[in-house]
Amino acid sequence: MIVEDFILKNYNAHIESGSVKWESPSNIALVKYWGKKENQIPENPSISFTLSNCKTITELTYTKKDFSTALKVSSDFSFDVYFEGEKNEAFKPKIQTFFERIEAYVPFLRDYHFKIETSNTFPHSSGIASSASGMSALALCLMSIEQKLREDVTLSAVERSSEKNYFKRKASFLARLGSGSACRSIEGELVVWGQNESTESSDLYGIKFDGEVHPNFKNYQDTILLVDKGEKQVSSTVGHKLMFGHPYAEQRFNQAHDNLAKLKSVLASGDLQTFVKIVESEALTLHAMMMTSMPYFILMKPNTLEIISKLWKYRSENSSNVCFTLDAGANVHVLYPENEKESVLKFIKNELSTFCQNGHFITDFVGKGAQLIKN
Ligand code: DP6
Repeated sequence: MIVEDFILKNYNAHIESGSVKWESPSNIALVKYWGKKENQIPENPSISFTLSNCKTITELTYTKKDFSTALKVSSDFSFDVYFEGEKNEAFKPKIQTFFERIEAYVPFLRDYHFKIETSNTFPHSSGIASSASGMSALALCLMSIEQKLREDVTLSAVERSSEKNYFKRKASFLARLGSGSACRSIEGELVVWGQNESTESSDLYGIKFDGEVHPNFKNYQDTILLVDKGEKQVSSTVGHKLMFGHPYAEQRFNQAHDNLAKLKSVLASGDLQTFVKIVESEALTLHAMMMTSMPYFILMKPNTLEIISKLWKYRSENSSNVCFTLDAGANVHVLYPENEKESVLKFIKNELSTFCQNGHFITDFVGKGAQLIKN
């Protein structure tokens, strides 16, 4: 599908009001997205596990604006945001930017007033990025409204041919414009985003990984160690920009293509040892890009390194396949196969939780993607 396919041309804003609700999970990248072109187009392909427990629940209530009265109703975007039951002004600028970016594709945004009520299953100040789950949940709510407004209009050939795919793909397309990694949260269990030679893919939206997946990777576990719950000193958006003119950018983008190709065969063969190597190398390369950009920065904390070194020791002493990955922050995602669940959790409780803020960690596992709660 191309960008034009996502422009809603025919709709009928006949519905006066209503509300829809979705829950959408976070995801953890195995091959990382770092560096983007204009319009949220990634510089390299990425692949992620969709999570289960870490999610955002968003209800979107829409009320038609009354343009008929003499008093002029503003055609600006009109919305209020409630986070965990409280009115929240801090989220508004990000949503305003999101609406500006997606307006061309969902023009009914100006026809309605929206009440956005959102909450997360994970603690707000946990340092877990909520943009992936938050933006995907909101994008899905907008798609549910779009679906209602199109009910009695003639669909284009593309829309008709793959209605179900169209819904998910456009939801992912919109989510990407809110936050790149959000486009990988619509489906599970593995999602690829960014054009590449190895898998079915697009730069515009995430696609469920089409390759074979060995039982070793079923129900894969992710325990998130909360090392630093504070605000990051450098946002992902700024970090991505620093890949412009970065001395190692080209090599890094090529490496991501290679790693995705390798991971595809590893996922099919169940080769856990190679999985560990690719995933940890991706995490460290991501942070190496940060450390070698100008200005340079470090998001890992001393406890991040303590955890990595303990984990390596545990792995070699126990012939384990546990490994780590990192996002753009200090928290550590500990990844392991389901059959090591008991032993690794014990190790985390006994030896790693002491490096977490207030001993806090979140147990999660691979999930199947977003769920409609109310339509
Ligand atoms: C390190 O998706 O948060 O988590 O598109 O600017 O919103 P924006 O960036 P964002 O970047 C996340 C990068 C990452 C790696 C990944 O998830 O692939």
